[in-house]
Amino acid sequence: MTRHLLDIESLASDQIETLLGRAHELAGGAPCGKRAGSVANLFFEPSTRTRVSFQMAARRVGLDVINIEHQASSASKGESLTDTASTLAAMGITALVLRHPDDGAASGLAAGLGAVDLSLVNAGDGQHAHPSQALLDAATLKSAGLEGRGLRLALIGDIRHSRVARSDIALFARLGAAEIRIAGPPEFMPEAGEIPGATRMDNIDAAIEGVDVVVCLRIQRERIAATGYPDGAAFHRRWGMTARRLKTMPEHACILHPGPVNRDVELAAELVDSPRALILEQVRVGVHLRTALFEWLFDAG
Ligand code: CP
Repeated sequence: MTRHLLDIESLASDQIETLLGRAHELAGGAPCGKRAGSVANLFFEPSTRTRVSFQMAARRVGLDVINIEHQASSASKGESLTDTASTLAAMGITALVLRHPDDGAASGLAAGLGAVDLSLVNAGDGQHAHPSQALLDAATLKSAGLEGRGLRLALIGDIRHSRVARSDIALFARLGAAEIRIAGPPEFMPEAGEIPGATRMDNIDAAIEGVDVVVCLRIQRERIAATGYPDGAAFHRRWGMTARRLKTMPEHACILHPGPVNRDVELAAELVDSPRALILEQVRVGVHLRTALFEWLFDAG
């Protein structure tokens, strides 16, 4: 059966454990397995971390990698996503890594492809899901000695427009987190009840009290109408993670950020480079998590 990574919800618990365990082994220096096949990266939104780490991971397991610039693809001439994907599959592409601005684009494509043998990886769709980011966040914490079970997390900032927030909350709830808090300006909070499993807080200082991990999220300006969001300095004063705020947290507590970071907005510049922030470790582990993902996708019999 063709395997996909569409969202956290459609992964079985043993598959999550397999991916996290394998990423941990690879991050510790284990050699990666070799697979045969071709991967196409089709990104309809900008990306540095996700695009490059999927390319690197595919090469590590011996896959051919094709990078498609969407402006230069026939999608710009009106071809549907399903027709583009079927065309790539007909050429022998066996996996498609897709970033798309529409919520549910990856699962819609999986449904539209029917019996076409093409593994799909959702590399971020609208504000819906970014499952490989959530998995690499958990893998990063595991490498830092923080297992998901019993973990207390706070996600701060623009929750409403964040696919990372939705996937992190879905994953850490599955892993047995003790508490997941969310806090941000009212206009950046999800509708009440929209994200079950997360406790809503109305200020950052209460939200970060006693947690093991704080996940800082940037304002997703690309998903917001041009007006009506706070300026960076005002946001930082009220909702930014600062050295003063970090001092109120337990000594072992760490900071995650999926990137890209806007320094001195969601996170003080001095903290970005501090050992308490695991941001570059997330990037490093992300290559290993995506390598584990390709091993798993291409293992399907
Ligand atoms: N975290 C993340 O998705 O970063 P990019 O947009 O650079 O891929």
